[in-house]
Amino acid sequence: MSRRKLYEGKGKILYEGPDPGTIIQHFKDDATAFNGKKHAVIQGKGVLNNRISEFIFVCLEEIGIPTHFIKTLNMREQLVKACEIIPVEMVIRNVTAGSMSERFGVEEGMLLPRPLIEFYLKSDKLNDPMITEEHVLSFDWALVEELDEMKRVALRVNDFLSGLFLAAGIKLVDMKLEFGRVYDEEGNLYILLADEISPDCCRLWDIETGEKLDKDRFRRDLGSLEEGYREVARRLGVLEDNVTEESAFLKKLEERRNQPTAPQSEKAEAAKKKGVKKPAGKASPGKKPEKE
Ligand SMILES: Nc1ncnc2c1ncn2[C@@H]1O[C@H](COP(=O)(O)OP(=O)(O)OP(=O)(O)O)[C@@H](O)[C@H]1O
Ligand SMILES: [Mg+2]
Repeated sequence: MSRRKLYEGKGKILYEGPDPGTIIQHFKDDATAFNGKKHAVIQGKGVLNNRISEFIFVCLEEIGIPTHFIKTLNMREQLVKACEIIPVEMVIRNVTAGSMSERFGVEEGMLLPRPLIEFYLKSDKLNDPMITEEHVLSFDWALVEELDEMKRVALRVNDFLSGLFLAAGIKLVDMKLEFGRVYDEEGNLYILLADEISPDCCRLWDIETGEKLDKDRFRRDLGSLEEGYREVARRLGVLEDNVTEESAFLKKLEERRNQPTAPQSEKAEAAKKKGVKKPAGKASPGKKPEKE
């Protein structure tokens, strides 16, 4: 089956989806760091990220956070809602680490008194420079209502995921989130969580030992990246089905979809196929202002 490639990034490929307004996200095995300067192919990384990100997005949908996730298609791919990505990466930090420690000369591992939100411009060419909310508004990268909604959702995601990871013996040190805008059936514009949430874009430390289970293993040559990601997936219960073959995976997926406890997003998808209208009620910053 040939399908149109829309974009190839460092970690994923986007293909045109089967229905208008949908996109297929394909998770690659490529690992990159320092804006692509360091690169390697890590067998199995794409599969682990696909499954971890699916698990997290389904949990977030369950607590009412609008996300782009529709359903998993196979071991490496998921169907998502196409959206207009807001060109701002939001980083939420609970503990000092990485570029923050370097920038402000603070040691890594200090618990922050409250979650700290940073903004970066999504631009590989400019090396994703740090920006402020004022830049976001001045350059019209997002409306003030959108920015408020993004911050509200980011803090909620952070609280929820901090607890989820804590229960798995993992400290959520920081994470990067991306948001997009999309229209609902009534023509209202709303903000949803897009891209991925995986050890590629979170810092995850073992609570007991402090061992790094995320991409810093690759950035800092701390050992097998795949092992760290696998450990995160195992602790979240994502690998409980013990499936490593594509055909067995697809069979399990079908079984899961037919269960009465199937995730909301998949239920909505099934309902849509049967022609049932999804109830409204997504958080909405309002109608898109008319362009002059
Ligand atoms: N639902 C969506 N609709 C449209 N684009 C999306 C959606 N979800 C994610 N994207 C975009 O798809 C791309 C995914 O590719 P990848 O993560 O490999 O990019 P990247 O090389 O990391 O570059 P970037 O710095 O732009 O994220 C990202 O640019 C991301 O913003
Ligand atoms: Mg990316």
